[in-house]
Amino acid sequence: MNFRPFGKSGFNCSEIGFGAWAIGGSWGTQADADSIAALNQALDLGCNFIDTAAGYGNGRSEKIIAQVLRDRRAAGKTDKVFVATKTPPNAGAWPPSPYCRAEVRYEENYVRENVGERLRNLGVQQLDLLQLHTWTRTWNRNPTPFKLLRQLQREGKLGLIGVSTPEHDQNSVIDLMRGGWVDAVQVIYNLFEQEPAAELLDVAKECGVGIIVRVAFDEGVLTGKFTKDTKFATDDFRNNYFAGDRLERAVNRAEKIRADLAGSNLTMAQAALKFVLSHPAVSTVIPGIRNVAQAVANCGVSDLPAMSPALLEKLHRHNWQRAFWYGGK
Ligand SMILES: NC(=O)c1ccc[n+]([C@@H]2O[C@H](COP(=O)([O-])OP(=O)(O)OC[C@H]3O[C@@H](n4cnc5c(N)ncnc54)[C@H](OP(=O)(O)O)[C@@H]3O)[C@@H](O)[C@H]2O)c1
Repeated sequence: MNFRPFGKSGFNCSEIGFGAWAIGGSWGTQADADSIAALNQALDLGCNFIDTAAGYGNGRSEKIIAQVLRDRRAAGKTDKVFVATKTPPNAGAWPPSPYCRAEVRYEENYVRENVGERLRNLGVQQLDLLQLHTWTRTWNRNPTPFKLLRQLQREGKLGLIGVSTPEHDQNSVIDLMRGGWVDAVQVIYNLFEQEPAAELLDVAKECGVGIIVRVAFDEGVLTGKFTKDTKFATDDFRNNYFAGDRLERAVNRAEKIRADLAGSNLTMAQAALKFVLSHPAVSTVIPGIRNVAQAVANCGVSDLPAMSPALLEKLHRHNWQRAFWYGGK
């Protein structure tokens, strides 16, 4: 496993982190025993960065992580493992609408209470990194939630402060980086979603902001294991994500990536992670991991040789701007 500086924090994070959404819920049946084994396997392979959230099984993911870290400490494994978690806005539109007020959606008493719950679930006195789970550019000119988080940092409850981008407007966090409000940003950057390479990633590098890349597999399709007929468990959120003809369209595009990888000696999953890691602004990529096999496969990617410039260049053509009707479907 290779390590990279996490922004200006002084912490060196593993290139492969552990995405802990599926071990909380919303992805079909997930046995805690499998999650615990997967997490231990990843940590044994050098992973030292875990991403979770209040919303992942309403604290289930955080509690599993806390249990694993407690058990490892008891077994004498005391290497620092960095845990990033998230506080969502309180009830209302997701993502927040242009008319939502920051003081309401991230109201002080609510945030304080929510941070207290994160500390309890993770069994710590201080959170390594608290990320606001979503954002709107409406709040950029008066980012009151970050003033509150800086206060919580002074009180010793928070180590670093960050934000997870709203999917429809990831560039809305650029002003926050330039304004010095965030130590870390979590962003979607993958073979389909390459827009962050336009500006966001470079600004992060300039400002010394740590970059956590989420959804590197586009929820699994970029591993190349789906077909247009793949069925998800009824309680797997991917029934919505890939609703209608989306699965077929995504699979067709993923197959074009497979063709471009011919002769590279990389599986699609390896290429998906290596592509992300090829950007120098990226601190860690956090593939979702549900079992030991995925922990082994994903952690192993760090040690593979870097992707060649020629292959990287070729893969740029898979950038897919999904949101614009003028481009057709
Ligand atoms: N708004 C936010 O802040 C936000 C949103 C989304 C995610 N996240 C964070 O980012 C992390 C990563 O995103 P994600 O988990 O949604 O999606 P992802 O990383 O794109 O996909 C993860 C899924 O792919 C499958 N998989 C993993 N490794 C594989 C391998 N080597 N070969 C084949 N299949 C593999 C697993 O599901 P199956 O085995 O069931 O296919 C796994 O749950 C999350 O866990 C979470 O920590 C944050």
